[in-house]
Amino acid sequence: MKILSSYSIKGGVGKTALAVNLAFALREAGLRTLLLDLDPQGAASFYFRVDSAEKFRMRDTLSLVEGLRRNIRESDFPGLDIIPSNLGYRHFDILLDGMGKRRKQLRRVLEEFKPDYDVILMDCPPNITLLSENVFRASDAILVPVIPTVLSQRTLEQLSGFFREEDLSCDMLRPFFSMVQKRNKMHREIMADLPVSHPGFLKTVIPFSADVEKMGLHRMPLLAYSHTSEAARAYRALCDEILSLTGK
Ligand SMILES: Nc1ncnc2c1ncn2[C@@H]1O[C@H](COP(=O)(O)OP(=O)(O)O)[C@@H](O)[C@H]1O
Ligand SMILES: [Mg+2]
Repeated sequence: MKILSSYSIKGGVGKTALAVNLAFALREAGLRTLLLDLDPQGAASFYFRVDSAEKFRMRDTLSLVEGLRRNIRESDFPGLDIIPSNLGYRHFDILLDGMGKRRKQLRRVLEEFKPDYDVILMDCPPNITLLSENVFRASDAILVPVIPTVLSQRTLEQLSGFFREEDLSCDMLRPFFSMVQKRNKMHREIMADLPVSHPGFLKTVIPFSADVEKMGLHRMPLLAYSHTSEAARAYRALCDEILSLTGK
């Protein structure tokens, strides 16, 4: 079982758009996929038309596994399940803080789902907390959308700096360019420079596209209503690239 996460310190960069479309593409590739919506805002859950998760007690690893299991929902697409978000997740940090081996708890919890899924994909909130540290240590690859702007470049440097300080393997960091406008000169320049200092950069680029924004109206992944658009093809190509790196 592979564990992937869609993560950035920055909000509004395309984490949720990646999570919902990658989850759909993984399932199209025949992998039993579980999408875990860790963002209390619940955008991924909204796109898949599932209600918020029920509240559950999160006292220890066992109660966390049971609570998450109880909240697994089938999506409209067989082979793709979702654990929706819950406002209670904002207490995740407090919970993890109270558990031993704090930074590795989530990996242990997710391993319990191994018999049922080939991939778990987490859509993360934009911050660095104990939960994000758990996500980093649980993930086989951390997918980081980067809009080619100066500020996004800076947040990527901050994230790699954090990884070095905490002795986390930078190899797991897999940035990719998101919301790219080819006609924008700054986008082109940053795209030429940034991958030189970040060797883990994925080659597939997600273009800026109004088709992606329409997910809010359709309430389903772009891949479910637009097979051939440029952005849909890009998400599929990104899925293939990720699978070729992490193995099926
Ligand atoms: N490739 C894209 N092209 C155009 N709009 C996009 C694209 N990716 C995301 N968006 C839009 O940008 C906004 C933020 O995207 P989202 O995935 O929710 O970001 P995050 O999860 O990082 O906060 C949403 O309104 C979304 O529809
Ligand atoms: Mg989001």
